[in-house]
Amino acid sequence: MNDKTAPQYSALALIYGHLMRSIDYKDWAEYLLEIAAGLEADEYRALELAAGAGELSRFLSNKFSDYVATDYSVNMLKLIREPVKIVCCDMTSLPFKNKFNFIFSTFDSINYLLHKEKLKMLFAEVKRCLDVPGIFTFDVSLEPNSIKHAKYLNRKGKFGKIKYSQKSYYDKKEKIHYNNFEIIMEDGTKYYEEHRQRIYTIEEYLEAIDGSGLYVENCFDAFTFDDVKPDSERAQFILKKKSC
Ligand SMILES: C[S@@+](CC[C@H](N)C(=O)[O-])C[C@H]1O[C@@H](n2cnc3c(N)ncnc32)[C@H](O)[C@@H]1O
Repeated sequence: MNDKTAPQYSALALIYGHLMRSIDYKDWAEYLLEIAAGLEADEYRALELAAGAGELSRFLSNKFSDYVATDYSVNMLKLIREPVKIVCCDMTSLPFKNKFNFIFSTFDSINYLLHKEKLKMLFAEVKRCLDVPGIFTFDVSLEPNSIKHAKYLNRKGKFGKIKYSQKSYYDKKEKIHYNNFEIIMEDGTKYYEEHRQRIYTIEEYLEAIDGSGLYVENCFDAFTFDDVKPDSERAQFILKKKSC
């Protein structure tokens, strides 16, 4: 499959911190640490997939003995300030031979995989890189989130001398959530970026995980430890590796 499912975040990296300024990454990091605590490991070796600008590494990197932050976009990775190992790679093709006992991804990044085959490739790669015992946890955005919040993401703004506008809409038939950005630099140069995310059902994730050698230990309503519900906006998956 040659489809390049991930945008390079070339221009968006310029304003990513500004767009995400209302996100409480500290709380998000604490939730992840609670999940990791379930492992009761003496030593944690963490692999972050689609780490973006490393917002979470600010709160997490000193909690793990090893921390590797990865992303498909080199422009996003360049924004990471923490002293972590940084590797530019696609999460569906991981360049690691060593194993990690805590692999994670946040903020809808998995929704960027537009085809079920890509999801299967991700789970196969994680299975290969995950230790036993080990946890792979990730959140996904669900349809109630797209239906409820798309309109709030239609916005315009300014960050320093950069102007931007975002148009967000959900195609319910295609199950694709679009976020289109226009970014105008001080000298008038314009950049356009289209972000597409597939809004899978929980059952579609379960089908993709089935046969991967991983199993779902829990699927929570994200940011809680309650089971996911039909109206959940975001789900948090906790996966482990089958021992044989
Ligand atoms: C919404 S951002 C989230 C970034 C970060 N996890 C956070 O919470 O701020 C999505 C990220 O996923 C990355 N991404 C999308 N598809 C990817 C892929 N196939 N492999 C690796 N990274 C990918 C993008 O480059 C982007 O940095």
